[in-house]
Amino acid sequence: MKKNSSVLTPPNETGAIVLGTSFRRMSVRERRDYLAARLGVSGQEVDALTGDTNLTDLANVMVESAIGYMAVPMGVAAGFVIDGERVNVPMAVEEPSVIAAATHAGSLISRRGGGFTTVTDEPVMCAEVYLRDADSIPGDHVLKRFEAEVRTHLRDPLRAMNARGGGFRGLRVERVDDRLTAVRIYIDTRDAMGANLLNTAAESIRELAADRLGGESIMAILSNAADDRTAEARFTLPVEFCARGKRNGDEMAERIVAANTIANRDYHRAVTHNKGIMNGVSSLALATGNDTRAVEAACHAYATRDGRYRALTEYEVRDGALHGRLRLPLALGSVGGAVAFHPASRFALRVLGSPDSQRLAAIAACVGLAQNFAAVSALVGEGIQRGHMRLHANRLAWKAGARGREIAAVAERISAAHRFNDETADRMLAEVRAEKSRERAGNNGSE
Ligand code: MEV
Repeated sequence: MKKNSSVLTPPNETGAIVLGTSFRRMSVRERRDYLAARLGVSGQEVDALTGDTNLTDLANVMVESAIGYMAVPMGVAAGFVIDGERVNVPMAVEEPSVIAAATHAGSLISRRGGGFTTVTDEPVMCAEVYLRDADSIPGDHVLKRFEAEVRTHLRDPLRAMNARGGGFRGLRVERVDDRLTAVRIYIDTRDAMGANLLNTAAESIRELAADRLGGESIMAILSNAADDRTAEARFTLPVEFCARGKRNGDEMAERIVAANTIANRDYHRAVTHNKGIMNGVSSLALATGNDTRAVEAACHAYATRDGRYRALTEYEVRDGALHGRLRLPLALGSVGGAVAFHPASRFALRVLGSPDSQRLAAIAACVGLAQNFAAVSALVGEGIQRGHMRLHANRLAWKAGARGREIAAVAERISAAHRFNDETADRMLAEVRAEKSRERAGNNGSE
């Protein structure tokens, strides 16, 4: 630890720790201990990351019929600059290339393009009460009176949220079809994702809604669409820094724009393009204990907002630079639910600098944009398989039985041989071990 900490720079003026290449060279334990020491995190939060601590009781209170954990690796994509502040992004994901790609693109954009800028909406969410065979939609005067009644009715369930600066923000009554009417209530949930609060609030006004608007209330539930709670990320990267392999920056930037156009025109490509964005967004959501399914559903639905499923990103080349933009609905909490309840998510939030929910959404949008830039750059450049197979080689090495330093040695040989299979991994491991024991024998002989 000591050896490495001397070459790592201290927290910068915004408080985030500067994690250079020496961080990547550390062992897993050294990285974790380094971060924990610098962030002043200890105890359960750190133990939760090792996987060798007993969190069985926690599993059992988090889900029904728990049998244990499916441990997903958590890593850190370092080197993002977002709105002028350095951010290290914790990501939990099973796919080997995701954190490497986010780190590469995030730090390139931050070093060469001045970083990302963001804009976020207030954290307002919607919940609905559905009425069947309600009267026709009342005029403004009656609706205003109904809204005032709902506001009074929600005072109690929203008392704590009101005290935190959130609370009821209004309602709309809309016809869904000939028989169905939706009463949509809008609540600012501040730093919470807000699902429980929204559901409680909607259920509490079911009868009131049916009584005042007529008909029968069928159900009351939040909407995961979250399209009033968006975050937008942008970057501007001088084209020369888009250069890759044999292609110069102009060529690469033009091809990135072309790739985005393909995703806008062809549904099949759009799904994969957006999946790449969600690699970043969902990994951050999972690391912080957020509801990844809610975020995924909202983002994919948002991709259809003009009637056709298309790319969530936008790119253009202007004034010698590539401009990237991504807007997403992001109902991410920084408190509540599993967030800051599971000790590993508490650690992740500390790594992020304890953001509020809007800042967390802004960071997620940046990671999604960086992830897309990385994927599309590789796709229109050399292709993704070369990088992917290099990372896959680590897994083959591990599966063959390599451990510790053997993993990198075996993976290197697999990549050099361009044979990515179990048989080659077994052979390379045997070679590495044979060389090691010859080395040891040589050392003993010379003593
Ligand atoms: C792989 O997880 C994600 C990509 O397929 C995304 C994309 O094609 O844009 C590389």
